[in-house]
Amino acid sequence: MARKISMAALSVVLAATLVQITYARTYTVGDSISWQIPNSNADFYDDWAENKDFMVGDVLVFNFTTGAHNVAEVTEVAYDACSTTDTIFTENNGPARITLKRTGEYYFICTFPAHCFGGQKLKVDVRNGASTTPGILGPPSSASSLVATLYLVSMSIALVLLC
Ligand SMILES: *[C@@H]1O[C@H](CO)[C@@H](O)[C@H](O)[C@H]1NC(C)=O
Repeated sequence: MARKISMAALSVVLAATLVQITYARTYTVGDSISWQIPNSNADFYDDWAENKDFMVGDVLVFNFTTGAHNVAEVTEVAYDACSTTDTIFTENNGPARITLKRTGEYYFICTFPAHCFGGQKLKVDVRNGASTTPGILGPPSSASSLVATLYLVSMSIALVLLC
């Protein structure tokens, strides 16, 4: 009986650990520039997104002053044309947190007149998050070491319980 309870507890710990491994990251779009019309470089947001590896479950924070900008998800066609007539959804309150819920390309623009033409547009390509394990993450972060620690702790518990 005690052993069954231990095994049940172990299963819970392992399941919680597996959930932790696929943790999501939060990106502040544009980093310190945040979400505005980029001053000199119209490709600023392309450059910002270029070397990032977006996964399902990651969160984009568009930081802007409510009333000065907004963020709308649009189609590829609308993104290319800076068209504001066919938006998928629009978030008018900043900062706006948008969770990337599926794989594939997402297109965001600001629908304020001329802002998109000025470069306030972002395209991200989202990959499946299943491979987000500590071992193949890029630079080590405190989150990934936490995950690694949790994993080691639960594996140690498993070994103790099984011996
Ligand atoms: C948004 O930008 C403002 C002004 O730069 C800053 O004070 C604030 O902390 C930022 N908020 C977030 C969620 O990044």
